[in-house]
Amino acid sequence: MENTSAFSAEDLLVRLAGNSVVGKNVHCYQSATSTNDIGHSLAKAGAADGTLITAEFQTRGKGRGGNVWQSEQSENITFSLVLRPKADAAKISLLPLMAALAVAQAIETVLQRKSEIKWPNDVLIDRKKICGILLESAISGSSVEYVILGIGVNVNQAAFPEEIMNQATSLRLSAGQSFSRAEVMEELSKKLDIWYLAFCKGAFDAILDGWRSYADMLGKEISFLYNGERLNGTAQDIDEQGCLIVLAGSKPLCLSQAEISNVRY
Ligand code: BTN
Repeated sequence: MENTSAFSAEDLLVRLAGNSVVGKNVHCYQSATSTNDIGHSLAKAGAADGTLITAEFQTRGKGRGGNVWQSEQSENITFSLVLRPKADAAKISLLPLMAALAVAQAIETVLQRKSEIKWPNDVLIDRKKICGILLESAISGSSVEYVILGIGVNVNQAAFPEEIMNQATSLRLSAGQSFSRAEVMEELSKKLDIWYLAFCKGAFDAILDGWRSYADMLGKEISFLYNGERLNGTAQDIDEQGCLIVLAGSKPLCLSQAEISNVRY
């Protein structure tokens, strides 16, 4: 069932009433520079853990690595969560992987088929990106003040700009039908609520194992950019911080998101 009507806080609050943390406070915007930017402002003003911000359109949607996140008005889902996990700062790198797992499971529920997670946190269908995740954090010393978890899911967009058309897809392109954005948002938020609670309880192994179950790239030959150089290796596993363990030559390398980019396989 297609639904291009704008998100409303009233509707989302009812839909997410059964959640423990995610979506207990909701702010819906027609237009924003970036829901992550609004998340920062709300967090600095004291917004509660789990505060949800949606926007029908972002004028400066942010992607990873300084990229722009493009999303057609009211076709997709662009949202951010203000999170206040009482966790050691060293564990924060697992939050984007936790979010990718939640999104992958939600997509599986609405699409009735399995998606794939590409390290660290892209969700793919048919090897094309359907969801991107951007985590921004305010950390002082080893304690986490707050985290903004921004998520973009392509839902009903039927075509993408030429420069990304071979790498991007949507639920609609995958299934040949439109989806209710509110229903997809409900499923995403429920799965995020479950996995965020698991994170807060320290169930890191469950998150890592869940992530691994969607990571088709593990065991495969990959190539990646490292210090400006394209290298090859076998993606073996992820470690407890979410770093990618790659066998390149004879010794395994443990690579963080900051160290490598443009992973291909
Ligand atoms: C990526 O490059 O893969 C990350 C994309 C993250 C996009 C989402 S859309 C909602 C939130 N607000 C932003 O400006 N970015 C994130």
